[in-house]
Amino acid sequence: MRETEADRNGAMPTRRELLRGGAASVLAGAVPGSGSAQAAAQPIPFGSAAEIGAFREDARYREALKRYCDVIVPMNDLKWQALRHDRPRFDFSGADEIVAFAAANGKALRGHTLLWGEALPPWAKEIASRAEAERELVNHIEIVVDRYKGRIATWDVVNEVIKFEPEPGAPYRDTIWQRLLGPEHIEIAFRTAARVDPKARLVLNDFLFEEAAPAGAARRKVALDTFRRLKDKGIPVHGLGIQAHLYGEKELDLDGLQHFLRDLDALGLDVEITELDVIDWKLPADPARRDKLAADRVSGFLGAVVAAKQPKAIVTWGLTDRYSWVQDVFPRGDGARARPLPLDADYRQKPMMAVLERTRRGTAARK
Ligand code: G3I
Repeated sequence: MRETEADRNGAMPTRRELLRGGAASVLAGAVPGSGSAQAAAQPIPFGSAAEIGAFREDARYREALKRYCDVIVPMNDLKWQALRHDRPRFDFSGADEIVAFAAANGKALRGHTLLWGEALPPWAKEIASRAEAERELVNHIEIVVDRYKGRIATWDVVNEVIKFEPEPGAPYRDTIWQRLLGPEHIEIAFRTAARVDPKARLVLNDFLFEEAAPAGAARRKVALDTFRRLKDKGIPVHGLGIQAHLYGEKELDLDGLQHFLRDLDALGLDVEITELDVIDWKLPADPARRDKLAADRVSGFLGAVVAAKQPKAIVTWGLTDRYSWVQDVFPRGDGARARPLPLDADYRQKPMMAVLERTRRGTAARK
């Protein structure tokens, strides 16, 4: 990719400039022989999660969301933990701020997430019966989806429902929803969301579909079985969200992933990359080496994905290393700061950003 001075200091053209063709020369230069064919191809929308603390306190964070993103997802503010401090009322303050920012800046929105077994308020533990669980779940989804109808176009209806290492007869995680409602918790969530906003795209969001570990194949099978069951019951579901928290040191099963994507396509399902970052705690300490390895990991993963099935969006779980869950959850033994995202802690572009730009504008064989 021809790097310009602007690129070097991070002043990338905005999405609107690229799409308006104002940077057509950059586009043409970026992909040799691309010309009008490339400029005509719609780029894959790119975006990021927005963490409310950084969003409120750091102007450079908001600027980066404006400059690089087509789509924004509130990282935590649409989870039960944020919305439902107290059982009788909803606190939409954080979500409303990010939704308003996205609307004011022409960004699309993803909603994360209507049902998860984690990030629940303490009172959720009081839910004690099937009837009560269904009543609470349906009520929550009705109120949240209705509030953002027409503004949040895509919902992670359910998040991380697949058991980490699925077993025959036990495909789903042991959450309050699974315990009280059984596997039906998934269809109740999708059916309710579809009833409230029939125009929304409804996604099952989960992780670890790309790894060579045995769990990877088992989880891919559970996902397919779940989608088939939902479709057989006529329950609206539109796609899979692949979180793609990529471990830098683990072996990927890209063939298995591509077969999986083609199976999803055969079921008429979309795919989107929803939480991309690189867990680099086992990668070398040297920042330049680590950044290159992380970029190569993202390139290999996205290259395989796009060659099998064009994703509806590519979303990273944050933009800058300054704020990332990876630093907290996967601290490096050498104490070096995690470098999981496309911008460093000072908002300078890393090789991963160039990979993302090439992928979303590239002409790799697309499904
Ligand atoms: O905002 C409060 C703050 O007021 C309080 O002082 C502080 C200490 O208790 O907590 C703050 O909330 C934290 C929140 O992140 C905002 O930083 C929560 O405790 C903490 O649990 C929450 O962690 C989030 C985690 O999901 C659990 O919800 C991470 O930021 C977020 O990156 C992570 O994202 C998940 C996806 O939702 C699902 N896929 C995996 C991904 C990574 O774990």
